[in-house]
Amino acid sequence: MREIRKAVLPVAGWGTRFLPATKAMPKEMLPIIDKPIIQFIVEALINVGIENVIFVTGRHKKAIENHFDYNHELEEHLKKAGKEKLLKEVVQIANMVNPIYVRQKEQLGLGHAVLMAEPAVSNEPFLVALGDIIIENEEEELKKMLKLFRKYGNSIIALMEVPESEISKYGIAKVRELDNETFIIEDLIEKPSPEEAPSNLAIVGRYAFTPTIFEKLKTTKPGRGGEIQLTDAMKLLLEDEAIYAYKVNNPVYDTGNPLDYLRTVITFAFKREDINGKLRDFLKGILNEERTLS
Ligand code: G1P
Repeated sequence: MREIRKAVLPVAGWGTRFLPATKAMPKEMLPIIDKPIIQFIVEALINVGIENVIFVTGRHKKAIENHFDYNHELEEHLKKAGKEKLLKEVVQIANMVNPIYVRQKEQLGLGHAVLMAEPAVSNEPFLVALGDIIIENEEEELKKMLKLFRKYGNSIIALMEVPESEISKYGIAKVRELDNETFIIEDLIEKPSPEEAPSNLAIVGRYAFTPTIFEKLKTTKPGRGGEIQLTDAMKLLLEDEAIYAYKVNNPVYDTGNPLDYLRTVITFAFKREDINGKLRDFLKGILNEERTLS
């Protein structure tokens, strides 16, 4: 089996939970303070040796293309203003990645989006990273995934434990434990009710796939929400190939809905020394005011 060199980032979704902010911009460009969500993910992919990032885009392609490109006007402005640090940063974003843009013309589901990347991936194993999730120390988790892929040569998925109330937001796995750090997938179900769920182990949105997944995606029927689901294609893959899994140890931040997004922004703001103190005072103030009023 060949080394994994490519990663697919599906970024063509409507982002309906964030309208109107996502009317003209993909939700993956929403900032966590001053860095778009997608940049966190691309940085981690590049840091573990991914050479090509394939963005499966929709109507909002421009914002992402521009973000990972040079902006000479801005660079000139920053140079004149003596803002060397910012200048270095914006140039570095353009330097970091060799992007490939693939257009998903119809939004038929996550599985369909991944299938659109087939001509760019061709017959190679590849990663998929979803833009709803940011993982702290993501490099560590991706390295685990790549290590397991090298060991087994099979598809690998990252899992996380979720509380019962969150189960219906995720794809859920039925697993058998192989050793301390590895599971083998026995079954998968996309967004089950807590009663239907075989476990509380949710698919995080980071996958390593053998190219066989493309064959399976071609025969996957619309599932949950009438969409072609990646989880359903993995279920088909299980008929021919084993899928392995591991549990992520680092904190996972969901950014896929306004409340979780806000939680993520606040958590990251507390990690920033330049914001931390004043934000704490501000939030304390709000909470005190609320207490006085109620
Ligand atoms: C997708 C997948 C789901 C996975 C989730 C992780 O769902 O279909 O299996 O658990 O991402 O974020 P989405 O959040 O796109 O509805």
